[in-house]
Amino acid sequence: MNIHILVGTTSGNTEYLAEQLQGELSSQGHTVVFHDQPDYANVPQSDCLWLLCIATHGAGEYADSIAPFMETLQSDKPNLSALKFAIIAVGDSSYDTFCQAGRDAESLLLELSAQQIAEPLTIDMLLELDPESTASEWLESWRSQRS
Ligand SMILES: Cc1cc2nc3c(=O)[nH]c(=O)nc-3n(C[C@H](O)[C@H](O)[C@H](O)COP(=O)(O)O)c2cc1C
Repeated sequence: MNIHILVGTTSGNTEYLAEQLQGELSSQGHTVVFHDQPDYANVPQSDCLWLLCIATHGAGEYADSIAPFMETLQSDKPNLSALKFAIIAVGDSSYDTFCQAGRDAESLLLELSAQQIAEPLTIDMLLELDPESTASEWLESWRSQRS
């Protein structure tokens, strides 16, 4: 099954994290498509897995690179019952709206009937010393059960 990595970043941290995961998945033989600025018309909505790596910005808002995509998804409301997904929510726990964008994405995808295949990972950039290793371990924890 093809994996599409959808990146929500404003200042680049989450893109760096997502690139590490792309490298790992590719080296394990998966076909991975990397969307650094997801374009609604070009991201397949069925028979694939979306790995969403989404930072929260503003006051609990989607990071710039993914905001237009999520807004279109919200207004278009496609049926995503043939789509699998997993989410990494990146944020900073000094904000009241910690990782809110990741939570909102999760709610929206569930509302659209997409199948969530793993517990979301939240990464707290205030405290996390090695986000890439944490994400890599999370990825391996569910990927190994599924292959
Ligand atoms: C202006 C600004 C607003 C932010 N707002 C939030 C927020 O509401 N909730 C949160 O969890 N993190 C918030 N953050 C923290 C970012 O999510 C964190 O710095 C993250 O590493 C940014 O990822 P990026 O470099 O991929 O954009 C904010 C950061 C900035 C600079």
